[in-house]
Amino acid sequence: MPDRRPFERLPDDVRPINYGLCLKPDLIDFTFEGKLEAAVEVKNATNQIVMNCADIDIITASYAPDGDEEIHATGFNYENEDEKVTLSFPSILQNGHGMLKIDFVGELNDKMKGFYRSKYTTASGEVHYAAVTQFEATDARRAFPCWDEPSIKATFDVTLVVPKDRVALSNMNMVERNPYPDDESLVEVKFARTPVMSTYLVAFVVGEYDFVETRSADGILVRVYTPVGKAEQGKFALEVAAKTLPFYKDYFNVPYPLPKIDLITIADFAAGAMENWGLVTYRETALLIDPKDSCSSSRQWVALVVGHELAHQWFGNLVTMEWWTHLWLNEGFASWIEYLCVDHCFPEYDIWTQFVFADYTRAQELDALDNSHPIEVNVGHPSEVDEIFDAISYSKGASVIRMLHDYIGDEDFRKGMNQYLTKFQEKNASTEDLWESLEQASGKPIAAVMSTWTKQMGFPLIYVDSEQNEDSRVLKLSQKKFCASGPHLGEDCPQWMVPINICTCEAPSSSKLKILMDKPETTVVLEGVRADQWVKINPGTVGFYRTQYSPTMLESLLPGIRDLSLQPVDRLGLQNDLFSLARAGMTSTVEVLKVMEAFVNEPNYTVWNDLSSNLGVLSTLLSHTDFHEEIQGFIRDIFFPIGERLGWDPKPGEGHLDALLRGLVLGKLGKAGHKPTLEEARRRFKDHVDGKNTLNADLRSPVSGYQLSVFL
Ligand code: BES
Ligand code: ZN
Repeated sequence: MPDRRPFERLPDDVRPINYGLCLKPDLIDFTFEGKLEAAVEVKNATNQIVMNCADIDIITASYAPDGDEEIHATGFNYENEDEKVTLSFPSILQNGHGMLKIDFVGELNDKMKGFYRSKYTTASGEVHYAAVTQFEATDARRAFPCWDEPSIKATFDVTLVVPKDRVALSNMNMVERNPYPDDESLVEVKFARTPVMSTYLVAFVVGEYDFVETRSADGILVRVYTPVGKAEQGKFALEVAAKTLPFYKDYFNVPYPLPKIDLITIADFAAGAMENWGLVTYRETALLIDPKDSCSSSRQWVALVVGHELAHQWFGNLVTMEWWTHLWLNEGFASWIEYLCVDHCFPEYDIWTQFVFADYTRAQELDALDNSHPIEVNVGHPSEVDEIFDAISYSKGASVIRMLHDYIGDEDFRKGMNQYLTKFQEKNASTEDLWESLEQASGKPIAAVMSTWTKQMGFPLIYVDSEQNEDSRVLKLSQKKFCASGPHLGEDCPQWMVPINICTCEAPSSSKLKILMDKPETTVVLEGVRADQWVKINPGTVGFYRTQYSPTMLESLLPGIRDLSLQPVDRLGLQNDLFSLARAGMTSTVEVLKVMEAFVNEPNYTVWNDLSSNLGVLSTLLSHTDFHEEIQGFIRDIFFPIGERLGWDPKPGEGHLDALLRGLVLGKLGKAGHKPTLEEARRRFKDHVDGKNTLNADLRSPVSGYQLSVFL
């Protein structure tokens, strides 16, 4: 562990109840003026108030106990490193309620955090600026002095003073719009009071926008704000959002608590999207879809991001993590349920298979490295908080929640989720609180099982061998940590409580037996399995572990790949495990290539995606060696038949996955130097550039990919 920077949470002498906050951004000088009138409670008499504050100049500050005279602060002591300010008062502030008033100024910065300026070019070519916010994790303190910790919740009355030709938005609906007394080019826009919420979820946007709107089936006003002239491109996200809100309401059995939700594009945006309560901000590529020019993968991405951020409106916003240590729960959960939501909205995307490729295998790849980290990490100083927004929190987090959901079963899982969201609404919760709710709903030892997955890094490799005993199959299972660089001998051996499902060829997608493996080794007996039947561990590839089969067991599974009787996720998982075992030196690469040849009849996009990425790793490893041309030839041979079948032009009745598969396969063939594919790509690219024939949106990325390699 690197040295931790010294860090202390804010003292709890004084706590906010309601922030009355007025901000007046200046889009020419890039500054803002702010006025805070915070109703607070003094819990322990003190002559100091410590708050978070960064890059803000306080002009005056005073405290008035309810019904008593104002006391002016005599000192503002900034602790820049710790992003805090201490206001000192000449007399003791007694226990009780009162009003803290602070006048301050700040910069509309260009750092894409806090209250910042975002540059865009208008249709007529002029450069304009919007004033926007990004507060997670610890940057609300750059917009106004506040208690910037997720567990210090309060309500907010926001007022923005803005040029009258600009759109001004915040978390809640507008309630008043008045002329501004001192300047008739400005208006004062007041928003309704928010529910009790954390500072990192507060947001403001001041800019030029068009919008499309609808009402969801549960009565919420949904708007998608787009750059001026692009409202049409907001319709896809609008449709997804309007379907998603009732879906989550029903799934959690908790209504969305605000009267409106806005989804808005921000021209300069550091993350992909941010779940501010009622005002979700997105980078343009995560929200806009051009009906003609956007490709299928963009559509899918927009749907996933919308599903992710809207999930946070409940999981994160209504119930918030007690501290950033539990951030993984927020992000892991949203990264899991976004797939559930997209599966509901677009069953034709086969999105859960794609989860295994995009999140599960990626998490396993990173988590097998010696320098991975546990899902749960103690964090303190803001610089440490930023570090944990990584693939372990997101993708491993989502993968272990998927495993947990499978272990508990959907009905009890939903019961537990509802209990958790109801019990902790408008409050804060920890990882343990969720486990407790799920434990009560399911009667299963959730905390014991899950702590083995969240508190230690890595995951197990399950080794499986079998014996036939008349009409039963005896399986011997053992677990050891899986390491990308091969087994580490002589080290402590961490153990996991592993929910293990087992299926046979009689019913390849359902579990014949489920066990909870809580020891290094175990033996299970499968009754009624004949010698000629295959047995597979981890149907659905839901358990977060890799499997190594004895050579005989592996051999028996290969026909299931060839005749497609193994489900797509299992064909993918089997191949991915084998490939990683080969990379770790635990099986031979030649064996893996032989298994890859069993994929001749493969129709599934995601399975091809995983094959393509693993073959890409091999090709990179072998580049600049004598074998490079051979592996390129191998890739061409494997991808050629499916490329032939698909052709270049979409066929009538084809769907989303065919479009994705075509782009993938033609892209791969081109990359592997398949001459006819390269020639056709060049021809189509030229026709596109010459304006003769528009290139299909789904082929643009693979084709322009080769054009670059051809010209370089
Ligand atoms: N809460 C995050 C945004 C965020 C990320 C804030 C990092 C501060 C630091 C948001 O919910 C999120 O996870 N966004 C993702 C997109 C999502 C679909 C995975 C992102 O920005 O990449
Ligand atoms: Zn998120």
